[in-house]
Amino acid sequence: MDEPPIQHHTAEHGTPAMATRARDSIEDPIMTARCVNVYYGEKHAVKNVSLDIGRNQVLAMIGPSGCGKSTFLRCLNRMNDTIPSARVDGVITLDGQDIYDRKQDVAQLRARVGIVFQKPTPFPQSIYANVAYGPRIHGLAKNRGDMDELVNTSLQRAGLWDEVKDRLSQPGTSLSGGQQQRLCIARTIAVNPEVILMDEPTSALDPIASAKIEDLIDELKANYAIAIVTHNMQQAARVSQRTAYFHMGDLVEVGPTNLIFTNPQQKLTEDYITGRFG
Ligand SMILES: Nc1ncnc2c1ncn2[C@@H]1O[C@H](COP(=O)(O)OP(=O)(O)O)[C@@H](O)[C@H]1O
Ligand SMILES: [Mg+2]
Repeated sequence: MDEPPIQHHTAEHGTPAMATRARDSIEDPIMTARCVNVYYGEKHAVKNVSLDIGRNQVLAMIGPSGCGKSTFLRCLNRMNDTIPSARVDGVITLDGQDIYDRKQDVAQLRARVGIVFQKPTPFPQSIYANVAYGPRIHGLAKNRGDMDELVNTSLQRAGLWDEVKDRLSQPGTSLSGGQQQRLCIARTIAVNPEVILMDEPTSALDPIASAKIEDLIDELKANYAIAIVTHNMQQAARVSQRTAYFHMGDLVEVGPTNLIFTNPQQKLTEDYITGRFG
């Protein structure tokens, strides 16, 4: 596939030209986005964004409210398909395959690229059933023993097993907010994803529950690629290896997290991280 260079952002629709500075190159990315535009009717919410997601690392997406972070994130597993006014163009690949290809099975894609939202959203069912739901739909367990194993492993990986092992038949909604969010992460893990997307996963949680999720994200990157949207810059600095700064639909700058926070190349990024803006 032709790979346009990453520093190619051109002005469109009368917006000022904005050259994205990419200061890293990703070897063998698990996902690539090239020239992605998203429109909600007339509203141009994501403007010509090109960005890679690396394997076994965390990409943080930061920027002021309304800059298109969630919209871009939702392109990566075609959640925008569910919004009637949304139109996506550009090319997004997972393991080299175009995820917007006509032949792509969208349910399969969303198993491979899972998503965790801001508000924990357990189903009104037992803890066990919440985790077993995806594997059941996708036929991942041959029998009850297999399913028990899968539920156990997923809860372990989500750092929740010890807290729930004696109460698997209780409702998911009986858990605390932080536990519910880890249950949602377990549910995502249970269908064996390659990429986990997280949209402000701790913004509804208290600091202790948030810290647990941050520790978990750090562990999860051993097995998954992670892209996280956060409005919390300290969180981005703590959990990610790469950071992308968005501003009014443009990807302004992306690079190693330590460089973005200590030596941003773009004034817009600097203004945001120093708190002058946003
Ligand atoms: N479903 C929608 N319909 C119309 N406009 C939307 C919709 N979702 C988001 N937008 C608009 O798109 C822009 C980007 O929104 P969003 O991706 O949610 O930003 P962020 O996550 O960075 O806060 C905003 O101007 C927002 O109002
Ligand atoms: Mg958002």
